Amino acid sequence: MQLPKAELHLHIEGTLEPELAFVLAARNGVELPYATTEELRTAYLFDDLQTFLDLYYALMAVLRTEQDFEELADAYLTRAAAQGVRHAEIFFDPQAHTARGVPIGTVVEGLGRALDRSEEEHGISTQLIMCFLRDRSAASALETLDAAKPYLHRISAVGLDSAEVGHPPAKFREVYEAAEALGLRKVAHAGEEGPPEYIREALDVLGVERIDHGLRCMEDPELVKRLVAERVPLTLCPLSNVRLRAVDVLEDHPLRAMLDAGLVCTVNSDDPAYFGGYVGDTFHAVHEALGLEREQLRTLARNSFEAAFLDHDEERRSR
Ligand code: HPA
Ligand code: ZN
Repeated sequence: MQLPKAELHLHIEGTLEPELAFVLAARNGVELPYATTEELRTAYLFDDLQTFLDLYYALMAVLRTEQDFEELADAYLTRAAAQGVRHAEIFFDPQAHTARGVPIGTVVEGLGRALDRSEEEHGISTQLIMCFLRDRSAASALETLDAAKPYLHRISAVGLDSAEVGHPPAKFREVYEAAEALGLRKVAHAGEEGPPEYIREALDVLGVERIDHGLRCMEDPELVKRLVAERVPLTLCPLSNVRLRAVDVLEDHPLRAMLDAGLVCTVNSDDPAYFGGYVGDTFHAVHEALGLEREQLRTLARNSFEAAFLDHDEERRSR
């Protein structure tokens, strides 16, 4: 049986499976530079974060209407339910859509249609986290927050993603302050490819409550001590780390050492259509590759509910 778990690091655009991409391309008259789903899948060999992002953004061209976003979210929720997910905090990248002429309202309302039915249809409670693309300007992030104002009832938190190196968290101080003033919670990707210093900055300058990835904290023992003492959750994505070559093979992943150090680790799928597995598959993979025992898998699942933006009553109901 699958352990009940919360998924806290999941980009909805990264759940676009090749089959759905072709269906949406045909429906919307978008030409894909691949003849078949098999041919598209052969492009899923990445050297690093940027080579992945190039394909991830290109394939989003097929997402155009509310119905497209609804079907995308519904497909994810169906798969997640089968893998034991009871609660999902879902990232989306509004700038990747508004830059192609798709309004933020189309994205949020389309996703919202699927999320509104999720508890009843899939047994999964959901929240949305709006991410800013860190390789775009701080001004563009502020414009995005402004454009999101009519939809804040659907959005729980802000996040920060895309190409990390050269785009430190401090670049987004102002927009995070504005988001907090609007009552939004805060997370950020940090320490995936970027240095441990970016993790400190995300905590100290942006005031985030969780770190997405955080893998490179292991290079900085003082930082590890702090993350342990403050119980800052890390939303790790081991299959993503292998595919984007942060680690060579899953057997080399520091997850076991991170748990042993007392870090509040969670395990997540990141972009499951691209990285070879949904979150249940990821639990299975770390069990096999790292020899994690049942008790450690339970700790990971328990951490996911502790780290979620649920109040305690909701948390008890989900588990
Ligand atoms: N890192 C940064 N940006 C992203 C990722 C990721 O793993 N997935 C989608 N956008
Ligand atoms: Zn991510």
